[in-house]
Amino acid sequence: MFIPLTLALASNLSTRVFARPPSYAVWAADSAIARGQGNGLDANGNAIVSYEHGEFQWGLRQLYEKTNNQSYFNYIQKGIDNVVFSNGTVHGSYSVTDYVLDPLRTGPTMIYLYGETHLSKYKVAADIFRGQLNSHPRTVQGQFWHKLKYPNQGWLDGIYMGEIFYADYTSTFQHANTTAWDDITSQFVLMFENTIQNATAPNNTGLMYHGYDYSRVAVWASADRGHSPEVWDRALGWYSMALVDVLDIIPISHPGHAKILSILQTLVPRIRDAANPTSGVWWLVITEPGRTKNYFESSGTAMFVYAMLKAVRLGHVQDHDGSIVRAAKKAYNYMTTNWVVANSDGTMGWLNTVIVGSLDTTGNFDYYTSQPTDLNDLKGLAAFLLASLELERLDTRAVE
Ligand SMILES: *[C@@H]1O[C@H](CO)[C@@H](O)[C@H](O)[C@H]1NC(C)=O
Ligand SMILES: *[C@@H]1O[C@H](CO)[C@@H](O)[C@H](O)[C@H]1NC(C)=O
Ligand SMILES: *[C@@H]1O[C@H](CO)[C@@H](O)[C@H](O)[C@H]1NC(C)=O
Ligand SMILES: *[C@@H]1O[C@H](CO)[C@@H](O)[C@H](O)[C@H]1NC(C)=O
Ligand SMILES: *[C@@H]1O[C@H](CO)[C@@H](O)[C@H](O)[C@H]1NC(C)=O
Repeated sequence: MFIPLTLALASNLSTRVFARPPSYAVWAADSAIARGQGNGLDANGNAIVSYEHGEFQWGLRQLYEKTNNQSYFNYIQKGIDNVVFSNGTVHGSYSVTDYVLDPLRTGPTMIYLYGETHLSKYKVAADIFRGQLNSHPRTVQGQFWHKLKYPNQGWLDGIYMGEIFYADYTSTFQHANTTAWDDITSQFVLMFENTIQNATAPNNTGLMYHGYDYSRVAVWASADRGHSPEVWDRALGWYSMALVDVLDIIPISHPGHAKILSILQTLVPRIRDAANPTSGVWWLVITEPGRTKNYFESSGTAMFVYAMLKAVRLGHVQDHDGSIVRAAKKAYNYMTTNWVVANSDGTMGWLNTVIVGSLDTTGNFDYYTSQPTDLNDLKGLAAFLLASLELERLDTRAVE
């Protein structure tokens, strides 16, 4: 039997070293794939339903549409097949009655795979997630609790985790369900009204605090609206990405579209103005610029770049003086210069993403700044993939 030598060599080589692709989006995706990240398994090889994987799959899906490289599609499918049995039951530490919004972030991938393959297991899995929302606990105003174990708390993160899935499901399977569209809109609006900083706030940035406790029981809850004390970059990053993504899904004819658009239009200029003027990127704790122990954080920055560029590209936000795109490009340059590292095996590494930011303790400056950062954190790397996809569309457009 004849085995072509060049092919054998090339495939052998590609498992160890690959040339750096010209596209940062491709480089980020291929590097995460080479490390086995975001594939429905945790570091020990156990199945895990993870919002980070859902975020990464969203980037891979757009990269697949852009490049037609089947490997990306296969990787997405493998990632979901690792957490969905052939009968559609979701496993990987998922349980409906935990009532956590985070796992639902993988739901849009299930709906996407159902559309592409028509395999009923993906629809069954998406139905299980959708069923969770029907009994998910809420505040008296109607906001989903971030988790059953955090009663009456709305966190910005939860909007990205739950509402993109909720909107995708409604768009695909219940397009005429006005109650659902009203509810999705209300999740965004309640979160905004309960956490937006106003002019009398200390360190006012006009941005949104990490979360609120409607019952004002949490140690961090303010007396007025129960909001947490600081603006944490990644929480606002998730919320910003949810705004630009949900506008693709919610019908323009539904009044929620205009309401969500107006929130986006309010926030984008404020996000631009909150960047550090020298570096162009954002502090971990945006409300405490320059304070000792605060630092420039990479996941939130990448999320803002994605949201700003996408908002301008789709005409949601007018960039008359070019300052929004300029700010996004400046931040992007900082990211590629300071947070992207070239590894000797040809992959890229990603720096400076904080591992966690939670409202389970004090939610204050010392808490956020005491949390460690890690290398190649997928929450940040996937956001960099998303930001790169937008930046590269911009570059393409400029030469057209
Ligand atoms: C397709 O993507 C895979 C997975 O990242 C990568 O290894 C491969 O080089 C890509 N193929 C082409 C033709 O770009
Ligand atoms: C689905 O398949 C899994 C794994 O085989 C099994 O544990 C589970 O009971 C099945 N669920 C249903 C509803 O049949
Ligand atoms: C429409 O959405 C609402 C709110 O989520 C839900 O309670 C209801 O069951 C949905 N209606 C249909 C026909 O599925
Ligand atoms: C503005 O924010 C401050 C601090 O959270 C609060 O005390 C005040 O009630 C708020 N005012 C309005 C109109 O929401
Ligand atoms: C932000 O506000 C806090 C509390 O009011 C204050 O202690 C801190 O110095 C302020 N930080 C900045 C950078 O203004």
